[in-house]
Amino acid sequence: MGEKIRMGRALAVVCLLAGLVAAAVPASADVRIVGGTRASTQDYPYAVYLAQQDGFQFCGGTLATSEKVVTAAHCVKGEQETPGNVYVVAGRDDKKATNAGVMVQVRHIWVHPSYTDALKGHDVAVLTLSKRMNANYAPLPIATPDDQWAYEPNTMATILGWGRTSSGGQTSQYLLRADVPLVSDESCKQSFGKFNPASMVCAGYAQGGIDGCQGDSGGPMVAHGRLLGISSWGEGCALANKPGVYTRVMAYYKEIMEQLRSTPRLGTLVG
Ligand code: ARG
Repeated sequence: MGEKIRMGRALAVVCLLAGLVAAAVPASADVRIVGGTRASTQDYPYAVYLAQQDGFQFCGGTLATSEKVVTAAHCVKGEQETPGNVYVVAGRDDKKATNAGVMVQVRHIWVHPSYTDALKGHDVAVLTLSKRMNANYAPLPIATPDDQWAYEPNTMATILGWGRTSSGGQTSQYLLRADVPLVSDESCKQSFGKFNPASMVCAGYAQGGIDGCQGDSGGPMVAHGRLLGISSWGEGCALANKPGVYTRVMAYYKEIMEQLRSTPRLGTLVG
């Protein structure tokens, strides 16, 4: 299955780099990045994951309407010609509970036209599903240009995902959540030379310990009931002074809304 490799590579683009950097740091055997807190899609119905046909979870996403999912460009770049290789799984806290929730095939993939790699920003994509999600899967509103206030440093934001629970470790079987404070642009710029506040926003504790990790990419960073960020990149996971970097959703409001509104043809309700 060619796409498996390609998706693997899409993950590797940013995350391999992160892995290499992490390897240079004294290995702390079990960095519980998401704080080990289980969460339920009942409470976060918009939290979805991206999977291959065989069920392999490779990224996260956010339901933004009943048939659109916002995710990271680096998760799906390379699959634009074959959107049907990508599936969205909703309502399934436990990746092994294959009877829970729904697995819906993707029918169209929009990747931000300026995207090349996550470190350069524009790491945003919108997937159109082949079927609409029913009302149990309440979507999450995206941040608007009026929401600058919501990005106030130290605001506590919730991150969600099925990604790795330790740097270089295995991805989580269950949906995990953590709360992390937004980091000021000045401070994030000191952490990462490649940080660009126009397209990115950072969140995490100065002391580290709680963070997203590989496999969480594309997933939501939420505060004030809005999607503020999309998990994009980092250096290792949960390291001190290396917060997670998220796509600044507000900056892409216009383009995302255009994609959310473009509704080719509605399928049947599922879920
Ligand atoms: N690029 C990673 C992925 O594809 C996400 C990295 C997030 N890293 C972090 N330290 N917050 O899943």
